[in-house]
Formats: sequence, structure tokens, C-alpha cells
Amino acid sequence: MRTHYCGDVNAAHIDQIVTLYGWSHRRRDHGGVIFIDLRDREGIVQVVCDPDRVETFRTAERVRNEFCLRVTGKVRRRPEGTVNPDMSTGEIEVLAHDLEVLNPSVTPPFQLDEENLNENVRLQHRVIDLRRPQMHANLRLRYRVTMAVRRYFDAQGFLDIETPMLTRSTPEGARDYLVPSRLYGGQFYALPQSPQLFKQMLMAAGYDRYYQITKCFRDEDLRADRQPEFTQIDVETSFLDEGEIRRIMEGMVRAVFKEALDADLPDPFPVLTHAEAMRDYGSDKPDLRIPLKLTDLTDLMKTVEFKVFRAAADMEGGRIAALRIPGGGSSLTRKEIDDCTAFVGIYGAKGLAYIKVNDATKPGEEGLQSPIVKFLPREALSAIVQRTGARNGDLIFFGADKAKVVNDSLGALRVKLGHEKGHAETGWRPLWVVDFPMFEWDEEAKRWGAMHHPFTAPKDGHEDRLESDPSQALAKAYDIVLNGWEIGGGSVRIHRADVQSKVFRALGIDDEEARAKFGFLLDALKYGAPPHGGIAFGLDRIVTLMAGAESIRDVIAFPKTQRGQCLLTQAPSPADERQLRELHLRIRTTEAK
Ligand code: AMO
Ligand code: AMP
Repeated sequence: MRTHYCGDVNAAHIDQIVTLYGWSHRRRDHGGVIFIDLRDREGIVQVVCDPDRVETFRTAERVRNEFCLRVTGKVRRRPEGTVNPDMSTGEIEVLAHDLEVLNPSVTPPFQLDEENLNENVRLQHRVIDLRRPQMHANLRLRYRVTMAVRRYFDAQGFLDIETPMLTRSTPEGARDYLVPSRLYGGQFYALPQSPQLFKQMLMAAGYDRYYQITKCFRDEDLRADRQPEFTQIDVETSFLDEGEIRRIMEGMVRAVFKEALDADLPDPFPVLTHAEAMRDYGSDKPDLRIPLKLTDLTDLMKTVEFKVFRAAADMEGGRIAALRIPGGGSSLTRKEIDDCTAFVGIYGAKGLAYIKVNDATKPGEEGLQSPIVKFLPREALSAIVQRTGARNGDLIFFGADKAKVVNDSLGALRVKLGHEKGHAETGWRPLWVVDFPMFEWDEEAKRWGAMHHPFTAPKDGHEDRLESDPSQALAKAYDIVLNGWEIGGGSVRIHRADVQSKVFRALGIDDEEARAKFGFLLDALKYGAPPHGGIAFGLDRIVTLMAGAESIRDVIAFPKTQRGQCLLTQAPSPADERQLRELHLRIRTTEAK
């Protein structure tokens, strides 16, 4: 029987006989003595095999990396000078009396402590990769987080209720994963993009407070912070207004950070409206660790000659904004400025004008250095200096285009330079972004789409704008943002069937289609559904931030690649002819090629 985990053995156990199970992390043959670093999920302990015990020593000679072993031996203090203060077990070692190889290992595809491993190699050999202490730490942190979440919601009277995986489409703006039905040829279940409609129906059914930690499926283009299947902490409550909902939800985030990391988050979280976030940060998920802000100049440029600025000022929905980089006059080289110009090009910017501030007291060509200075009147230049708060040695970048292009490009430049040029603070900077627009214009489809989802309530007094002026209708929708990542989003819902139908119409969904797709929801609203609202958090993203990991793949045991494949099991994979026939499917080979 195991007496201890490897990582738990310490000086308190000196002179005790222990039995340990684990893997040979490293084996060193010091000519005469063999050291085995034995690893299990709790850590690593040094095992010493000396030649006096002939059997044990012979076995130790055969051991290689990643052999699975049982060791029984005596704990002793390490000799003077060999104590390792970095290890919890660094004061002691285990003198092996008995060593058994439970299972040898072929040579692993990589060393567990190898740095900069290729991610595809890691994902292909995920079992070995998951043995790495860092991955153990990440998955354990994830467990601590979900336990803290459960404790918090349990204490607040929330019930964990499961919702189906084989269901109808729940629109969250992505493509559905479909599952063909065997019994109903030509028909499909959809995997849920979220439990949205079910949690609303649970509220209609009187469950009052629901939460679930559950998988969601979205067939969308993947990035570092997205997976096709990911986990939401999904929550819904009845009879609370937006502020009350936000208070409970940010309380959860604070409790989790305190419990899992002993970190203190602000109470309450700061709140920005969507309009303020776009104006000051060019983003609806601002990284508040970076104090730099955008400055709006649109009104100043309506009369200038400089074509680039004037055209944007005259454009409907145009914007001119500035981003001041303190000390940028010297911290940014000419080449780096060119790189920035190329960088904003990714976001559709056609250029990146800039001014170097040599003497802020002389807002003309004497004090400001840039080819565009001569095209701008003195009043405009002084206003730029004044509004941006420019000082000697600063560099000011300008974006002029449709507001979306300016916001995307300067917003991203702000984050990039903020981090690269040492303007970012450390720590946790959460915030709420509220008052999102109800709709966004879908240029491709030439119609309005829901900014959050079609079940989100308009702000009080904005109901009439749903039809008369959709662009001006704001929603009771909120996102929670942490260090530049959207970690959660939710809304107060529509609880009246007539308002829901109005929103469907504004989205170009006519009554017939609404009935066919969401009749069950409209019906639920008709039987006295309570006012309700909620949120969903991206668990994977929260844990990624907490772990300081680069991608959410590092906090998911068996993730998919950016191309949506599981390299370990080789999914997706072809189905055999019999299965296809049962499912009434035929592969369209021409298109598959
Ligand atoms: P939303 O679509 O904003 O809202 O999703 C909620 C949160 O889930 C996370 N998330 C993802 N994480 C990893 N990979 C993905 N592909 C992915 N997509 C989303 C994000 C996001 O903030 N039903 C609504 C919630 C509600 O209104 O209550 C919803 O799903 O962190
Ligand atoms: P041009 O008149 O095109 O030579 O541009 C003059 C300066 O304005 C250059 O520094 C360009 O990088 C910059 N510029 C051009 N288009 C834009 C734009 N849409 N926004 C900001 N700067 C721009």
C-alpha cells in the first residue's frame, strides 16, 4: 500500500519507512550510486539506490525515464550541501530498500522538462504532455476554480440543473454542430451553442436560481482564446434587475480569485458603457492594465485641409482619434513606427499618421515634427496637444476612417505598444462593459443581427427604437472583462412574448419563422414567465488568465487544434458505410474533395 505521495514526503518523515508509487522523472547514475527522481501528481522526491542492496541496485540499473515504479525505503536527511531549497522534498531523500518496475516505458517522444515544445507534438502525445507538472498544476487550478464556483452559488441558493446536449439550435452567432438522427431520416439534433433557451425556460418554470458548469459547442473560426467545445459557467436568476444580477456575478469572480489565488479584486468592479469603452479604448474589452487612452478629434477636423482627416470627418460614422505614447519620440524607432503602420493595416487602416512632440509649448512646425503638420491649422494643432495632454518627447499616432477601422486599429495598437513599451501595470483589472447596442449591422447579409443574442431585453424606454431606429436601441446587456479578455457576458431577458416578437421582426425573423424555431420559448413566455436574466462565464478563459497560460488549450485536458482536430484520437474521422446508411446520409464526394 502507498504510504505517501512523492511530493508529500518531508523532514517530518525522517527515519520512517515509506512506500511510494510514481514515474521515473530522471535517473542519474553516479558510478556506484543511482539516483531516481520519482514523480507523482503531488511532486518529485529523490530516491537513492546503493549497490549494497544488490537486487534493488540491479533493478535501478534497468530503470529509464517514465518507467512506472514502486519504491519502499527509508527517509533520511540529505547530506550537507545537497539540500535543494526549491523542492518541497529538497531536505530529504528515500534510501530504496525495495524497488519494483510496475511497467517499463519506451523512450518518450520528448523530455518532460523540454522547453518550447511544438504544440502539435504535445497534443499528439497528450498523455505524456499531461504528465508535465505544469499541466498538473493547470488542471488542478481548474478544479479549484470549479469547486469555488460551486461553493459560491450553492451558498447563494442556486441549483445545478442539467440541460440537454442533443437539442435544437440555440443561436449564439456561430455555426451549429449537427448530429444526424437515425430514427428520423434527414433530421438533425444540434449540439447547444449555450443552454440559453433552457435556462430561460427553467426560470419560466419557477426554479428561480440556476447554474451549471457545462459544455457548449460552436463551429467557428478558432483562435488562441476559442475552442469548438468549451465550458461555460452558466447562470440565470429571476426577479432581479441588471445591477442586482451584476452584483451577484462579480461576487462570484471575487470569491473565486480569493479562494484559488488569494487575489483581491476591486469591490465593486468599475463599469464603463459600451460607448465610453469604444471612445476611450477603441474596444469593448479594454485592457485596463494599460493607462493609455484614445482621444477623439473628429469635431476638430471638419474644417481642415488635410484630405485624410477631412474625409473621415465628413464621412457618416467616420472618426479621427489620437493615441499618445508617452516618451514615444525616443522609445519608438523609425522602423518600429513602420511596423506599427503595417500592424494597423491588419485592421483595415490605410495609414498611420503620427506627430513627434519636440516642444509642446510650440504647437506649430517649430515644436511638432511630422509631414502632416503643415496641412493642419495652428488651432487644430494646439487642440491636439491640449486634448491629448502631449508633453515633450511624446509621439502621437492618428487614425482616420470609419469608426470601426479607427477603433479596431488604434485599440489594438494601444494594447500592443502598452505592453511592449512598458506602460502596462500588473495585477487584475476587471470591469463591466454595459449598455451594449441591441443590434449590429451585418454587412454581408445586409440586415441587423443581435449583438448579444435575440433574447436580450432593450433598455427601458428603448422599445420603440427596435423598429424605428434599431441603431440607437441599447440593450440590458453586459460583459465582464478581465485584463483585456471577455470572460463573461449576459443580459436581462425579454420576458414578454410581444416584445420578443418585436425583436425577432427587427432581426428579420418573421412570425412564421419565429414560431417554427422558437415557438416553445414564446409559449413559455405566455404563461406568466417572470422577469429574469443571467450570464455565462468562459471557464476556460478564466483559468487561462489565472494560470498565466498562453492559450486556453493549456487548461483543457484534451483540447482541439486551431483547425478543430483532436490529434490524440484523430477526430474527426470518416464514418463507415453502414453507419452512414443507418443515418440516411450519403457523402457528396465531389465537394468533400
Ligand atoms: P456568450 O456567447 O458571450 O454568451 O458566451 C459567454 C462566454 O463564453 C466564453 N466563450 C468561449 N470560450 C471559449 N471558446 C469559445 N468558442 C467561446 N465562446 C464564448 C466567453 C464568453 O464571454 N448564452 C449567453 C450568455 C447569457 O446571455 O447568459 C452566451 O453564451 O468567455
Ligand atoms: P498620404 O497623404 O496618403 O501620403 O498620407 C499622409 C500621412 O497620413 C501618412 O503618414 C499616412 O500614413 C497617414 N494616413 C493615411 N491614411 C490614413 C488614415 N486613414 N488614418 C491615419 N493616417 C493616415
